[in-house]
Amino acid sequence: MSMIDRINAYAGELTALRRDIHAHPELGFEEVRTAGIVADLLERFGCEVHRGIAGTGVVGILQGRTDNGRRIGLRADMDALPIEEATNLPYRSTVPGKMHACGHDGHTAMLLGAARYLTETRDFDGTAMFIFQPAEEGLGGARAMLKAGLFERFPCDEIYGLHNQPGGGRGRIKLCAGPMMAAADFFDIRIRGKGSHAAWPHQSIDPVMITAGLAQALQSIVSRNTDPLKAIVLSITRMQAGASYNVIPETAQLAGTIRTLDADVRAMAATRMRALSEAFATGFGADITVELRDVFSVLDNPPAQAKAAADAARDLLGAEQVDSCIVPLMGSEDFADMMMAVPGAYVWLGAGPGAGLHNAGYDFDDAIIPVGSAFLASMVERRTAAA
Ligand code: NI
Repeated sequence: MSMIDRINAYAGELTALRRDIHAHPELGFEEVRTAGIVADLLERFGCEVHRGIAGTGVVGILQGRTDNGRRIGLRADMDALPIEEATNLPYRSTVPGKMHACGHDGHTAMLLGAARYLTETRDFDGTAMFIFQPAEEGLGGARAMLKAGLFERFPCDEIYGLHNQPGGGRGRIKLCAGPMMAAADFFDIRIRGKGSHAAWPHQSIDPVMITAGLAQALQSIVSRNTDPLKAIVLSITRMQAGASYNVIPETAQLAGTIRTLDADVRAMAATRMRALSEAFATGFGADITVELRDVFSVLDNPPAQAKAAADAARDLLGAEQVDSCIVPLMGSEDFADMMMAVPGAYVWLGAGPGAGLHNAGYDFDDAIIPVGSAFLASMVERRTAAA
């Protein structure tokens, strides 16, 4: 029986599990119920289970037939988003304001499906590590697990992970070697001027005018400071100032995100943001502070592991279902930090048409669960056998 056929035999159970997790979403570092389900199932399958890593992280360990010393890690994320679900699905979120709108419920079910397959078949030599991480959505769950000694306690030679992609063609696997997803910095710029009556503007240092000008000027980092053949996104997502019609306020704020694929571009953007802010402060006599936070690293697939993942996907699904040379995306992924510690590969797994990720109408495509489980399981079988 093929790997996918074997996993398909219990696809119904994996779907039921996925829908149960979907109905009970938990935000980052609060995945107590989800982690409990994961750990209990891993134990039932016959894995050695470690709970409570960086709070709610779980690691399951499975020995193959013999121990050849190779250790392959598979990773899934477990957290939901602070979104009010806008579907009428029978398994819709039962928690107001929280929703699995990125399919991490599906990723968790897929990795449990891979763990079940590998424990039932044990057709590999070496060790499989099943890593379930908390808080992928911008709260630093991967970094927290690394800080908790993830790879010192559970050393891996290689690690693999995946993300579903709505509208990406059901069951298609896509990746590229090299940078595939962007680094992300979040920024807060605080402008302190001088408030006054709106009718006596000459008595003010108007933070609203300074903020509007600075917001425009910051876009020159993209259009005038970055090599046009290199990628950068600078999005201002929040502007805040004032509360009335006849008062020039004292302060204003800008916030947003910078996405880059290249360390030099990333550093340049930070330098220019500070320089422009300083120049506006000097020019207008205001006080401006810039806070930049490194939230995500570049997700970089090393060539050897990218090739291994693409080869596995082709053998599993057929060459026509695999695109191993996609254009990088400017979205970000927490798994990047784990891949800076251990080489690995991250792939997109296409899903059927539907609402996009982080959308209140999103619905995970359960039909791709066995494909994801099989891909992950095959990485263990193939890469524990790799010299
Ligand atoms: Ni996600």
